[in-house]
Amino acid sequence: MTHASAPGKIILFGEHAVVYGRPALAVPVTQVHANVEVTASRNNQTLIHAPDISLLTTLDSLPSDHPIASVIHNLFFSLGISPFPPLEIIITSTIPVASGLGSGAAVTVALIRALSSFLSHPLPDEQINQFAYEIEKLHHGTPSGIDNTVVTYARPVYFIRRLLLSPRERGMGDEVETLRVGTPFTLVIADTGISAPTKESVGDVRRLWEADKPKWEKVFDEIGEIANEARAAIESGKTIELGALMDRNHALLQRLTVSSPELDRLVEAARRSGANGAKLSGGGRGGNLIALVEKDRAAHIAESLMSAGAKRTIITEIA
Ligand code: PMV
Repeated sequence: MTHASAPGKIILFGEHAVVYGRPALAVPVTQVHANVEVTASRNNQTLIHAPDISLLTTLDSLPSDHPIASVIHNLFFSLGISPFPPLEIIITSTIPVASGLGSGAAVTVALIRALSSFLSHPLPDEQINQFAYEIEKLHHGTPSGIDNTVVTYARPVYFIRRLLLSPRERGMGDEVETLRVGTPFTLVIADTGISAPTKESVGDVRRLWEADKPKWEKVFDEIGEIANEARAAIESGKTIELGALMDRNHALLQRLTVSSPELDRLVEAARRSGANGAKLSGGGRGGNLIALVEKDRAAHIAESLMSAGAKRTIITEIA
């Protein structure tokens, strides 16, 4: 039996603008993860069991564009494995779906890792990341690549998508640097409970941009500057500065129309209950927000967020 896992992730700064070549910061969230177990099947069919999404099926009966089937088919094809060996694949995940915590990317990465190891072709992280990016593109339109990157390497990253590369090369020349955390800091992650497909908010931002490129390029520039300031603050341990940067980033995301009344309400509730700053995280419209908090106030702020309507909170230390 081969087992692999991958963590969830959260974007700290720079979502949406990252699609347009501006820098973004993201960190793994190790409290939640996707796990994959692969064994040889006892009959001649590949069996897939994903109890969290009530999926128990054979590979053959899944449509080939199903996210799980597409990983398996594409991986076997690129490893030159034919015919497919019959396998039993168990996929479990504690990462909430469609909420900005990277559940799709984590399942993809864990699946690639477990299958390639089981088939005696273990892939280095760089190749896993590249492969996962191809899968993200199949399902999410024009992803920046930040999700697969932070989930694959499982460390804080400073990420810039390289726009000048051809679509084939894209994802290979991105700038990925490890973000060094000068002084650990604490975040409360709070889920609105509203699942919102990133593809839609990314598509809406694209339509805004296409209608008035100079205007939105300026907004993307401002978001990129915030991400750069945040990187400097994180690396030099001046984490208190991150709160105001989060507030500024959230206001710009509101202008991009990717916040929502529920996100705004919870962001306000976090600030009122003592967070140093807060913002939505990821695609927006629903999903999660993050609040920068003092460690000893984290439990209190998490409780306040639950009282204000959050469906779940995670307290995480970024170190
Ligand atoms: O919703 P998430 O956590 O998958 O994040 C999406 C981040 C965007 O910048 C909106 C899109 C992207 O591909 O980077």
